[in-house]
Amino acid sequence: MGSGGREHALVRALAASPARPRLVCAPGNAGIAADAACFLVKADDVAGLVELARREGAGFVVVGPEVPLVLGLADRLAEAGIPVYGPSAAGARLEASKTYTKQLLLKYGIPTAEAGLFDETAPAIQYLRSRPVPIVVKADGLAAGKGVVVASTRAEAEAAVVDMIERGRFGSGGRQVLIEDCLVGEETSILVVVSGRDYVILPTSQDHKRIGDGDTGPNTGGMGAYSPAEVVTPELLSEIERSIVRPSVEAIASEGIAFRGTLFVGIMLTADGAKVLEFNTRFGDPETQAVLPRLATDLLGLLWAAATGGLAGQRLDVRPEHAICVVVSAKGYPDAYPSGDAIEIPAALPPGVTILHAGTARNPAGRLVTSGGRVLGVTATGGSLKAAAASAYAACDSIRFASKYYRRDIGARQLRRL
Ligand code: AMP
Ligand code: GLY
Repeated sequence: MGSGGREHALVRALAASPARPRLVCAPGNAGIAADAACFLVKADDVAGLVELARREGAGFVVVGPEVPLVLGLADRLAEAGIPVYGPSAAGARLEASKTYTKQLLLKYGIPTAEAGLFDETAPAIQYLRSRPVPIVVKADGLAAGKGVVVASTRAEAEAAVVDMIERGRFGSGGRQVLIEDCLVGEETSILVVVSGRDYVILPTSQDHKRIGDGDTGPNTGGMGAYSPAEVVTPELLSEIERSIVRPSVEAIASEGIAFRGTLFVGIMLTADGAKVLEFNTRFGDPETQAVLPRLATDLLGLLWAAATGGLAGQRLDVRPEHAICVVVSAKGYPDAYPSGDAIEIPAALPPGVTILHAGTARNPAGRLVTSGGRVLGVTATGGSLKAAAASAYAACDSIRFASKYYRRDIGARQLRRL
């Protein structure tokens, strides 16, 4: 279930299973429609999605985005007797409420930025004055990546607090805010397939959240990713597992949540060790597009094991190749952007390149057109990150639509280090 590049990557990986599943997707997009039968049921229509799963005789449901999970889709599917990969609403709260997650992290001593939680302006501003800048102000609820302000001055931080608490700028969730110290370092995304107290850590990746080259401009859902993120050495990954992943999985289970889905741990690698920035309770987008091509293990088998309680002892086989995903977006994103631009994708693509669709549709004449901010995910694998990036960028250059925009420096940080 879902309609983005992440879901296209999931559909492709599930389709490659030796189990040869019949795939149905809701709502999907123009690219997914070539790989699965698509039905126009939206991600927030929980009753409609359950009804579709029933009608299609679904034997297994894999949920892409967070919204239906927060609305209880996994709970409703479980009640209908349909196995589902994706946490219950109680589990999805780890993404839906930043204050809930911060309290959990603090309660279990899991490394994270020091923070204060507030629902009134005066004490929040008083707290701000006692902390150094830059400082981070976060609205409590789901805000599609836009509820976080990294303020470089106190005035900016105070304005964000007022916006969130008094003007409710990010919906009802925003009336609670979290003010946390700014962590400095490199970010990494650790995707963990979780089933109760059992888990499998997927290959590392790094997202590029800002819209502009050199990490400039506003935050987006993610403009590109690569895997592996070599900044996470095997030793560092063991340390992250010991200090963050295992205790988090244990903490969630100890809170009485039977979590069956992806725990996406957003981590900042600081001089003082790895610290949790956030949890998401679903696969990352675009991280998934760079991670899944590297799995030699059958994804369907892995997710099924997690959903049905057979994850213990599951091992993961990872291909040694490097993978990259460059998001091709409509210029203007993450703010207003045009829709309906005709897209031309050349028939012949460089070796190792796959075009995944995110915001695409067919117009009444049947032409492929843009229909979202993030339009395509150009993914490539190669023997090195450099080779994968060269293939991906050659493909990006050859794709045509009027509002085309993409970052030119996906993976550059790692390439510079090399
Ligand atoms: P979140 O949704 O909490 O991951 O925040 C979105 C983005 O804001 C993160 O990916 C970081 O780039 C940035 N961010 C969040 N919290 C902090 C923090 N404490 N220090 C520095 N940057 C942060
Ligand atoms: N790429 C970050 C996310 O999926 O939230």
